[in-house]
Order: sequence, then C-alpha cells, then structure tokens
Amino acid sequence: MKKQEDRKPHRLVLVLFPLQGHTTPMLQLGYALHSKGFAITIAHTRVNSPNPSNHPHFDFLPLSDDTHYSDKSGTPNIYDIESINLNCKAPLQEFLELQKTSHSQVDGIIHDSLMYFAATVANHVQIPNLVLRTSTAAFLQAYLALPRLFAEGYIPFQDSMLHELVPRLNPLRFKDLPVSRENMEDTMKFIEIARNFKSSSAMIMNTMDCLEQLPLFQLQQHFQVPLFGIGPLSKVASASSTSFLEEESSCIAWLNNQTAKSVLYVSKGSLAMSDEKEFTETAWGLANSEQPFLWVVRPGSVSGSDWTELLPRGFLEHVGERGLILKWAPQKEVLAHSAVGGFWTHCGWNSTMESLSEGVPMISSPQFFDQKVIARYITHVWKVGFELDGVLERGDVDKSIRRLMTGREGDEMRQRAIELKHMINVSILEGGSSYNSLNDLTEFLLTNKI
Ligand code: UDX
Repeated sequence: MKKQEDRKPHRLVLVLFPLQGHTTPMLQLGYALHSKGFAITIAHTRVNSPNPSNHPHFDFLPLSDDTHYSDKSGTPNIYDIESINLNCKAPLQEFLELQKTSHSQVDGIIHDSLMYFAATVANHVQIPNLVLRTSTAAFLQAYLALPRLFAEGYIPFQDSMLHELVPRLNPLRFKDLPVSRENMEDTMKFIEIARNFKSSSAMIMNTMDCLEQLPLFQLQQHFQVPLFGIGPLSKVASASSTSFLEEESSCIAWLNNQTAKSVLYVSKGSLAMSDEKEFTETAWGLANSEQPFLWVVRPGSVSGSDWTELLPRGFLEHVGERGLILKWAPQKEVLAHSAVGGFWTHCGWNSTMESLSEGVPMISSPQFFDQKVIARYITHVWKVGFELDGVLERGDVDKSIRRLMTGREGDEMRQRAIELKHMINVSILEGGSSYNSLNDLTEFLLTNKI
C-alpha cells in the first residue's frame, strides 16, 4: 500500500482514555497510521498524559485538567468516566472549530470507546469519527448479550449457576460474564457505553482473525459499520515506550544470566491491587516453587504499603539471586526474552496479546472488566494456560508454577503458544489479516471524505 500522495497529509485526532491499558493501544494505532502517511494529533487528559518527548512525530492536545478518580488505586468508576467525558467536551469542540476556520482541517477523529463524548463533538462539527475498542471481540460480544440474558431471566444468577455455560455465548460460563453482581446499575451504564456508537462510521479492534475469528465475524454481522481487526497493535507498528511508569531495563542483564525458558514473569498490569495476605501468599508460593522469577510489584499496588515493605521476613534471604522484584518492567522486551518460559498474569488484553505474540504460556488470575472473558479464552479456546483464581494460597501458587514451568503439560502449552505466535506473525505480514485490515482502514480513511 503506497503512502498518501504528496499533498498536505490528512490529519487525524486520536482521543485517549487515561488508563495505561487504553492509552497504549491508541498510541500504537497512531504509529501504525503515521506509517501510512497520516499526521497525528493525540488528544489527552492531564492525568496519565503521554510524554510528548517520547513521541516526536505526534502533536499533542491537552483536553482537561481536572480529571480525578474516586478510587485511590486509579481504577476509574463509571462516574469518573462520565466526568472525564463532560470535562473534555468543550476543549475538543473549541479546538476543532478553530482548526476549521484556520484551514488546518482535521480530517477525522478516532476515539477510545470510553471517550464517547468525541463522537458527539465530531457529529456537531461534521467530522467523521471512528471508535477504537481496546479489548477483545468476545468481551464486547458478552456485553452486548447482557440485555438478552437479563430479559430471559438468566441475570441476576445464583452462585449455583457460576460454572454453567451461558446460553448462546460459548465458551463463557456465568462466572466469566462482565457483570458486577454487587452493582447492577454500573453494569447497565457500561452496557450503554458498549452499545452506543451508532454515530461512528467504523470500528477498529485490537484483535485479529487467528485469535477471534468467530466473535469478530458475529460482531461484523451485528454492526452495520465496517469493523477493522488490526491486532496486535503492539506488533503492527513499532512504537516508542507508552508506559506511564519508568521501565527498569536493568532486569535484562539479570535475564541474560538465566537458563532458557526457566524464568516465570509475574505482572498484574496497571490497575490490579492485592491485600497483604495475597501478597504474602504470592511471595511464599514463588519462593517455595524453587523457580527463577521476575516479579513486578507496582508501587501502591499492595494495600497498606508503598512498595515491598510487606514482604514476609526471611523471603529475600530464601530467594537470593533466584528472584528479582521490579516496580515496572519493559514488559514486551521481557516476554520476548529467551529466558522467560511462563507469565503469571491478570489477563489484561494488552499483556495477554503480548504474551501470545512471544509464544509464552500463562497462569491466569483474572480480576475484573474483561479479564475473566480473556482468561476463559486462554484456558479453553487457545489452551495456552490454566486458571489460578479464588483466594490465593502459597501451596496452590507453588503447585501452579511447577505445573507451568517444569511439567509436561506446561511444555505442551508452550508448544501451542509458539504455534499461536507464528499465526500472529503471519497475520501482521503482507497478505495477513491484520496487515490487510490496516490497509483497508487507510483506504477507508482516505476515501470516505476523511
Ligand atoms: C486495563 C484493564 O485492566 C485490562 O483488563 C484491559 O484489557 C485494558 O485496560 P491493564 O490492567 O493495565 O489494562 O492491563 P493490560 O491490558 O495488560 O495493559 C498493561 C500494559 O502495561 C501492557 O501493555 C504491558 O506491556 C505494560 N506493562 C505492564 C509494562 O510495560 N510494564 C509492567 O511492568 C507491567
């Protein structure tokens, strides 16, 4: 696909949602579209704003300065999302109207599905808009099925139903559904957000056929707009680091000293929290497993402490050089390292795709949002991992680590993960589904008056 003709490049405004797991794929999409000749402006809030010096090819548009999260862990609830959308509306509209008069026309807007205000603003100033969904097709499908399940009386469901398969939503069980049983009101609002992009002219998804062919096909049937599956965005274009926290690359030297496929990488993403009991059980499970490990403990992620003050007495002496604890890792580099043989993850979609892209099998400990749907696919569709959920206990942790890192079953999962890695590589190479979708999206952006 040749780049655009040499006239002034078409300019796109990409509207970020201020969470690591949402900002990363949108910035990666920006790199992919920049490589196709588009000029990119990144519209962002002041909280969790990207560092412009990391992205010299992009322009930046700060939208609002009073975004706040009610939950100190940084996990936005539905009210935070609503206030972010309210605060960002005027600044974006003002910018777009100014651009119109100054003839530096914005040709299109691509917004995170949680930044739905941007669709309203785009329609108001008559600029086409597209929505980027940063999670899986199966997760969106689950959300879209919830109203039917309510209407048919399947929700709310009893504990006795937790392990039952959800009718017409194979392979999900009721326990995998993105339903906050304690707070159905929030669930209904999230369903509304999931469904409400009638005014978008197309949908972009950070996934691809080799992982989600059926859910993608079914979603395309459901929505009357083009759907572009361009995952993994972490592989489709080479992007600079998108981390909010500083990545400690010193860990690579430690990995270089480890035996191939011997290290368990442990990270629970940018939002997950644990209490002291879970932290202690995790530590002793890692110690007792006798396996080398690289453990990310995000500062503030253990309730009641700043970082690792709550590590149990004797843990560090027991582990010695066999383990390394970091605040934040260069995760893509770590997963690509030959010493890493397994990933204990919370099943965030970016982490899951990064693991699949490097052929690394997983221990799945999902917590919230889309993570249970993703965990179900890891264990039952792609068969490249198994679940470790419920109340964490050091014996189960120890057993799970040995099962993944030393057993025959772990080797079989590793082999399947390597097969998936090859399929993912085929999808991003010329003629592959993601390669073609990115070209189709470029064509769409250029020919639909964008
Ligand atoms: C959130 C939700 O929790 C997740 O379920 C959803 O799919 C996306 O939004 P998060 O929890 O941060 O995301 O997880 P994930 O999607 O895995 O994104 C984390 C990103 O941070 C990944 O790209 C990962 O490479 C990066 N990371 C994580 C690092 O760079 N270093 C680390 O030490 C840990």
